[in-house]
Amino acid sequence: MMLLLSSLLCVLAGYVSAFLVETSSLTDLYPPLWKECPGQLSDYRVEDGVYTINPWLYPERMGMYKTLITVTAEYFERFAPNNAANILWGLPLQHGWQYETGRLVDPTGETECGRENGDNTCISVDSWWACMNYYLSALPFFGAVEAGVLGISSDQVKLSPPPKDQMYFCYNVTACRSFFPDAMIKWNTFFQQARETSKSLDDLLKYLWDAHIASLEVARSIFDNRKLYFSKPELDFAKSWSNTVDYIATINFETTLKKTAKFQKYLPPRLLKSGDHPLFIKDFTDSQNRILFLINLIHKIDDDSGHKFLSFFRNLMKSEYLRKMVNDLMEQISQNYNIS
Ligand SMILES: *[C@@H]1O[C@H](CO)[C@@H](O)[C@H](O)[C@H]1NC(C)=O
Repeated sequence: MMLLLSSLLCVLAGYVSAFLVETSSLTDLYPPLWKECPGQLSDYRVEDGVYTINPWLYPERMGMYKTLITVTAEYFERFAPNNAANILWGLPLQHGWQYETGRLVDPTGETECGRENGDNTCISVDSWWACMNYYLSALPFFGAVEAGVLGISSDQVKLSPPPKDQMYFCYNVTACRSFFPDAMIKWNTFFQQARETSKSLDDLLKYLWDAHIASLEVARSIFDNRKLYFSKPELDFAKSWSNTVDYIATINFETTLKKTAKFQKYLPPRLLKSGDHPLFIKDFTDSQNRILFLINLIHKIDDDSGHKFLSFFRNLMKSEYLRKMVNDLMEQISQNYNIS
């Protein structure tokens, strides 16, 4: 058990060590094309009085996040200036990483969707990453609409369907609500709670991660058995990463701008290809290699234990005292390792 625990701590330590490095400017940390993305509903098309967003275009999907980050800025100003403590930053930064690292490109190679020299803002419906992210963008967005954060009623906004596989997605508040009530209620709750000035950042992180995991579970239930078109190493990483997020959730990882941006630097900077062996990938940094190895290891441990390790860890982390202890411990390990 100690071995498992220390492996886990090592992975997390990699994330934490990053936080120690100071950053020059907050805007350097924004996701790709942030400035060009819509930042309010009125930047989108209106069809018959309904705002219509095409989430299969990177700027439009990212714009949903930008809109949310912008309207919720006032809820987080009391924790830090310039919206830097907005814990919704985790979502757009992760999506930006997917875009930047080629993970939204058509993996079948049949279309130009997402290709640098082709249709580079296109998001492919054949990309597993893009499909998983759909439920981490559409549901938070619709949850916010329902919670009244965007100042429109539920029937005033809809999303455009992809060119195929339309049955895998929901496109408006009513449909998402009826298919995925649990996740929608949790996002709605997060936005309601975020308005309460009495809540601590830790309280809000708890609501955020509950909703995040609910969305992830919806996405996994739909896409788990889908053909991924990935190399074996990318496939292993994809599954492992989605599993590792379960662990990150249990410690209430602080998804503010700086912390998320720093830890993301350790995620694979490109799609993995066959022949890539974690720890020995030449164009990755030592930390990227190590973190990749450990993410895969966590998944293996979790899988071999029949998810018992996750339940065990989740129970432990219910204690605020233990959660603090793990966070402090991680910080210490990261300082000692001085991972770069
Ligand atoms: C919402 O989506 C569902 C399923 O796609 C559709 O049947 C329904 O008409 C839509 N409702 C609104 C208000 O657009």
